[in-house]
Order: sequence, then C-alpha cells, then structure tokens
Amino acid sequence: MDTVQGARLDVRYSGKPVGAEVCGIDLSQHLDDSTFAAIKQLFDSNGMIFFRGQSLTPEQQIAFTARFGTPDKHVRQEYALPGYPQIHLISNVKDGERSIGSAYAGDDWHTDLCFMRKPARYAFLHAIEVPTRDGKVLGDTCFASTAHAYDTLDAETRDWLDRQRGVFRYHRAQERKQQQRARDHARPPLTAAQKAATPDVSHDAVITHPETGRRCIYINKTYTFSFEGMSEEDSAPILKRLHEHITRDEAVYTHKWQTGDIIMWDNYSTQHMAVGDYALPQRRLMHRTAICGVEEFGARVLAE
Ligand SMILES: [Fe+2]
Repeated sequence: MDTVQGARLDVRYSGKPVGAEVCGIDLSQHLDDSTFAAIKQLFDSNGMIFFRGQSLTPEQQIAFTARFGTPDKHVRQEYALPGYPQIHLISNVKDGERSIGSAYAGDDWHTDLCFMRKPARYAFLHAIEVPTRDGKVLGDTCFASTAHAYDTLDAETRDWLDRQRGVFRYHRAQERKQQQRARDHARPPLTAAQKAATPDVSHDAVITHPETGRRCIYINKTYTFSFEGMSEEDSAPILKRLHEHITRDEAVYTHKWQTGDIIMWDNYSTQHMAVGDYALPQRRLMHRTAICGVEEFGARVLAE
C-alpha cells in the first residue's frame, strides 16, 4: 500500500518508468475527494495508470472522466456511441461495410492530437471486447514516458533540444499511413473541411508538465517531420535517434488488455502505440473518453 495525499492506494508498479495498476477500487462508485486526489497524484507522477475488472456504464465513464476536466466531444461524431457524444468508439467491428468505430488507430508512436494548436491532454479507454487468438491476447498498447526520456538524454542533446521547435504535419502523416495501411484498414481521405481545420503547426520540442514541472520531450515519430528552420533531410537522423531513445525496450510498458480494463494516460508526459496484430473475426471494442488540453506550447500555425 502506498499512502498518497492521505489516502491509501494499493498500487502495483510495472517496473518501467511508466505504467501502474491501482487495485481495489470500483470506478462505478463515486470516489471521495481524498481517494480521487491520491489517484490524480499517482496519475500525474506516472503518466499512465490502469484499473482491472471494471464495468462502467457510459454515464459512469463520463462521470469519472469529468473529475479531471470537461469531457471532449470527438470531431468524428459518426464514431460516437449513439446517445453519448463524449464516448468515441475505437473498434474494428463492422455494421455491414461500415466500421462502427475508429479502427486500427494510432499504430505507430504518437501523442493524441499533437498536430492541433491545443493538443489532447488525458485519454481514458474502457475495454469492452478484447481480441484473442488461441488464448493469446492481441492488440496490446505500448507506452513510453517522455519525462523519463528527457531526464535520461545526454546533457548536450538536452540543451540543444530545449531550444528547438518541432513541426507537426497531420496531412502528411495521413498520406504516409494510407500508403502503409493494409487495404482492409483503409480510411476515407480527409475532406476539404478536415484539411482546413488541421494546418501544419509547430510546438516546442520539449514541454513543461503543468502539474509536475518535469520537462517532457514532445516530438514524436508519427507526426513530427522536422525541426523548425531545419530541412526534413537534416532533421531525420536526429528525430530517429530521439525516437529510438524514447521508445527503447527498457523504457516501454506494454499493456496486455483484459476485458473490463480502464486505462488512462497523460499525453503530455507519455507517448503510445497500438499494436494492430488482429483482424475480424477477432473483435476489439473500446469506449474512449478524453479531456482536451488548455495549454499551447508556443503553438504556431505554419503556412502550407
Ligand atoms: Fe492515440
């Protein structure tokens, strides 16, 4: 048992710089303030925590999410759980030809909505259906701590990175994905309105976590194409070295899903990647809620 902010939490740490299981809590019940404060403090310091064996109604998941801020309504409302605009379905399950949710999302390292002026902050996933094959769980999600990655950089690289800004390109990332994706996983191309809403932006390459004050590397493999003022060609080897550092094996926690899991991560202090090693008839269904960030890390919209 760890005593955090006066409340005792039964925490099992993953042994990695990120990832901790909180045991003995039923999130369908209202949490008293001291228990909530302890969970929030653990979440801030760890970046990714989870609870097994939960069974939350959509209302209960939204209520838990709302303790952390105002639940976001995802722009792709066609993937909302009917009647619940705050619950975004992540699923490969189909209704006829159409996926009921966003399928095979985030299959390389990234942080959510980092290409927006105000990037996403917290994400919560509730596992409703988890794919398996021959008893083996599929569709793992991997997490890395960007705070730990910053702390373990050599001083020279850290000083240099502190002065850089990353260029984040949503359209380019989507085009690259379309080429890499299996045909079964194809998505419709972006509409003109979606493109207009997602111009290229730059952010500070290292951000300061608003609660812990820790410095966190913010560039990521999926969306950062260069450093501002530097060509993609010159940026590529530095970005590659940083990505390898952030996601090296000993720094990564791999979450093996169980039905009933609630997992939550902080997009400022972590990066994640979903493993797409399953396909129908192996079904995956997650209920996702999220909180938008209010911070802008020197965000600047770049001309096309
Ligand atoms: Fe994601």
